[in-house]
Amino acid sequence: MKISVEFGEMEAKPSEMGIIGLFEGERPLDGDAGAVDEALGGAISELIGSGEFEGKLNQISVVHTRGAIPLKRVLVIGLGKRDEFDLDRTRLTSSKAVIHIRDMGLKEFLTGLHNLPMFNRSTAAEAVVTGTLMGLYRFTKYKTVESDEAKEVEEFTLMDRGETEIAEVREGARRGRIVAEAVNFARDLSNEGGNNMTPTKMAEKASEMADDYGLKLQVLDRGEVQRLEMGAFLGVAQGSDQPPKFIIIEYKPGEEGLDTIVLVGKSITFDSGGISIKPSEKMEEMRYDKSGGCAVLGVMRAVSELGLPINVVGLLPATENLPSGSALKPGDVLRSSSGKTIEVINTDAEGRLTLSDALTYATRYKPKAIIDLATLTGACVVALGNHASGLLGNDEALKEKIKRAAEASGEKVWELPLWEEYDEQIKSDFADVKNVGGREGGAITAAAFLKKFVEEYPWAHLDIAGTAWTVEERGYFSKGATGVGVRLIVQFLRNWVGE
Ligand code: BES
Ligand code: ZN
Ligand code: ZN
Repeated sequence: MKISVEFGEMEAKPSEMGIIGLFEGERPLDGDAGAVDEALGGAISELIGSGEFEGKLNQISVVHTRGAIPLKRVLVIGLGKRDEFDLDRTRLTSSKAVIHIRDMGLKEFLTGLHNLPMFNRSTAAEAVVTGTLMGLYRFTKYKTVESDEAKEVEEFTLMDRGETEIAEVREGARRGRIVAEAVNFARDLSNEGGNNMTPTKMAEKASEMADDYGLKLQVLDRGEVQRLEMGAFLGVAQGSDQPPKFIIIEYKPGEEGLDTIVLVGKSITFDSGGISIKPSEKMEEMRYDKSGGCAVLGVMRAVSELGLPINVVGLLPATENLPSGSALKPGDVLRSSSGKTIEVINTDAEGRLTLSDALTYATRYKPKAIIDLATLTGACVVALGNHASGLLGNDEALKEKIKRAAEASGEKVWELPLWEEYDEQIKSDFADVKNVGGREGGAITAAAFLKKFVEEYPWAHLDIAGTAWTVEERGYFSKGATGVGVRLIVQFLRNWVGE
């Protein structure tokens, strides 16, 4: 996608389409809307006056300019009520407008920043670009038949009328592109089936990305993982013919004394449940059980491109979870690299097993914070549905920082408690801990399990089981992987360094 930023008046620039946003019930028209309306002899005012267009959220009308101005058409999109408007509605309306333009078969368009005085220009530009690029995303690489999918927008121009602010708009657009492309990269990886995204393939993808973005990469194979005595991770991997890979990816911009943050991403490339096998209905969706790891890779790419002054380490314990003659069984006891022993009650609670060893590995960096992202529990989906990720952790300040990043990034989180009372549920009669704490509070007991492996380091856990995938088109998400976590963590890291 080619993105340009230009100072000037939309109505004076030749293009197939110009996007103009209008709040509900607001007259007279000003900014782009006012200028275009005037140039068209009141065509937009007429649309509103006739009751055809009210400015309700996501309402769309297209006006043909019939040679009156160099711009061929104007797409008017409703922004809803001004006092309900926020950054996420900026992203949402941008995505709706651009999907309409793509469906019309157009390849290029102009957009203004909709005269949004509530945000600075850079923030508004970032949101418009993020919404546009995320909205246009589709996973079509396996569709061989020519169809609607062939329609693709190739370029757009962000127009702004304020000459002095054009540098800010340009910077916002740059950041928006970096973040949205990282999100779409994570979606591409996560959408792949288990056959095309094995642990080995995931390591290869990570390695290509690391080369492209100047990151350090190390992939530990089964032998090295055995030497590190990661018995829990290996226990999950032992049922699969695909070799496990423990992927370590590091961004170190080089300056002395920078803080280090470790990100851990659940990377089960397919979760069948193992011997505690899942019902076949919807099992195909369990290819998105690697979404935490995919999000971490997306974040690594974005922080490197943004050049943030902070050390970031990504850890992806990648394996399949399959049943076989060599698979892990309920009743087995595993010894994790922390030295703690784990009684396996249910082999479908495999994510916490793989994460336990990765969290132990994270402590060797002596990080300022550890954050894990994991499609960990169905219980979290029951509790929060699809609109917020579960947030749990052992450090109030860290959780607050994540909540703040959630507000700015558009990725909602909701905190669940992690009181020590929940530890009772994961006490084992035969080992130090067991991997399942019963049905009650399942998202919490899963986090209580993880907490045992982070020592005293500030740690937060994001359960993205409900948010990493969508079965219907929703806002700027097409069906499938959402890339959740990328925007949130990039924002968190930007806030951390004050950028
Ligand atoms: N990957 C699943 C969790 C999941 C469920 C993600 C639905 C996305 C949608 C996880 O490995 C799992 O199977 N968890 C079990 C734990 C249970 C056995 C304690 C679950 O949630 O049912
Ligand atoms: Zn599972
Ligand atoms: Zn799983």
